[in-house]
Amino acid sequence: MQKELSKILEEAKSVKIKTKEDLENFRIKFLSKKADLQNMLGDFKNMSADDKRIFGKPLNETKSEITAIFESYAHLYNNDSIVDELDSTLPTEAIKIGGKHPISIMQQEVIEVFKNLGFSIAQGPEIEDDWHNFSALNFAEDHPARDMQDTFFVNNEFALRTHTSSVQVRVMENNKPPIRIIAPGRVYRNEAVSARSNCFFHQIEGLVIDEESNFADMKQTLYHFVAKLFGEREIRFRASYFPFTEPSAEMDIYLGTSTESDYKLTKGTGWLEVLGCGMLDPNVMRNCNIDPEKYSGYAFGLGIDRLAMLRYGIKDIRQMFQNDVRFLNQFKHL
Ligand code: DAH
Repeated sequence: MQKELSKILEEAKSVKIKTKEDLENFRIKFLSKKADLQNMLGDFKNMSADDKRIFGKPLNETKSEITAIFESYAHLYNNDSIVDELDSTLPTEAIKIGGKHPISIMQQEVIEVFKNLGFSIAQGPEIEDDWHNFSALNFAEDHPARDMQDTFFVNNEFALRTHTSSVQVRVMENNKPPIRIIAPGRVYRNEAVSARSNCFFHQIEGLVIDEESNFADMKQTLYHFVAKLFGEREIRFRASYFPFTEPSAEMDIYLGTSTESDYKLTKGTGWLEVLGCGMLDPNVMRNCNIDPEKYSGYAFGLGIDRLAMLRYGIKDIRQMFQNDVRFLNQFKHL
């Protein structure tokens, strides 16, 4: 029987299948009820237990090898016995397409508001030198932000930028006023990662320089920005300090404390800090070859991640960067 089986297999292997008809003949000869192999399988039932143990395996192996030969051609010739598994009338599976990330949606919204006010977009490198990230912006040699604990240093010369204010410097160095730009981008800080802060986040920097810009212009521009993004809201400016602006302020918007999340977000005060701003320090302008006697300017910087969390009720900043499709799919329709 072993011999017979190998003869059948050899024969099956040597058949040349070139047409659908050849394939059908192959099926009849080797796999149909009339085939020798099928007869042998039929006899198997009546064998003694000992014989079954000996012949079961080779019989099955031969059958599956021959079936494999048949199926490899059946696919080519679209043979019905295989096509049965593929129902071409069924609707196809929908193609899965991605959606925009909440940070991108928020960033685009902010850009849109400022574009409509005549701002253009500037960009700068994420790996920045000390001059553009700190020195030109009037940071003192021993300012704590330069500390290893706050900044990721790449080597002695370069660090990952800690804010998009570095782009201000590049724009001032390479352009003459009037200047009216925003600079969106990713920034990095060596901070403990938690639900509220991450070691990288996103900012949008704004810079306006001309012969007559003043603090009132800046307030009005920022008020407009808040109204466009969150509707008419109460805002307030608190005096603050940044090395590159004088005077400096932080702007808060009023959310109230009526919902639990507003209460938490504003630490019970009702006010949420959204950005830093101020009039450009004359030292910074001088560092970038712009005459502070002739020109004046204002700048502001805001965090995108916080705004996105506020808008979409995201409780943990880390969720935005885990690439979990269950999270990301929730923003698909936006
Ligand atoms: N660079 C500041 C930060 O990262 C934000 C900022 C404050 C930017 C005041 C400015 C500004 O342009 O005028 O915290």
